[in-house]
Amino acid sequence: MDIPFTFTVPLPTAVPTRADKHLERRLSALKGQFLDTERYQAMLAEEDRLVYEVYEIHRPEVPGELLLGISVVHPGQVGQEFFMTKGHFHTVLDTAEIYYVLKGEGFMVMETPEGACSVEALTPGKVLYVPPRWGHRSVCTARQDDLVTLFIYPANAGHDYGTIEQQGFRKLVIEGAAGIEVIDNPRWKQ
Ligand code: F6R
Ligand code: ZN
Repeated sequence: MDIPFTFTVPLPTAVPTRADKHLERRLSALKGQFLDTERYQAMLAEEDRLVYEVYEIHRPEVPGELLLGISVVHPGQVGQEFFMTKGHFHTVLDTAEIYYVLKGEGFMVMETPEGACSVEALTPGKVLYVPPRWGHRSVCTARQDDLVTLFIYPANAGHDYGTIEQQGFRKLVIEGAAGIEVIDNPRWKQ
């Protein structure tokens, strides 16, 4: 039988004291996601930089259980676009997710298959509820600091990366002339 457990996420390092899996995603894992493909290729040729990391707590992937962990998106840009996660829909679309921002600055870019979209600013202390059906991607917009979030979602949700890999999200977060801007993704087709 399971027993209750705790772990802590000491700041500022934000490395949790417990993790069953530590995942690293580098630039090469985000092929096709950044708009400026020339800059992407040039950066990749130089170094396959670490873009984000995920610390996961393992639980059985069955209804009733929750999966949780810490997501760390590092600062950086490919052209005007900020470093971000791959982003996904949950395979079981009708499953929600909660994010709690521990550190850093950024955005959660979200959309539904039905065409709704939303981009929420993430700042320390904020709780974001991502309802069922909303695909989601975290973007780090700070110059120096990581964007660190705690995430919790139903353990049977699964991840569908393929839909986003095809044409990305409808909205992009970029460094524009006047600062941080949320723009329409020109690659996105109806
Ligand atoms: C789980 C979830 C987060 C992300 C993590 C990395 O459903 O949304 O744990 O998995 O932020 O992002 P992806 O999975 O898009 O590479
Ligand atoms: Zn998710």
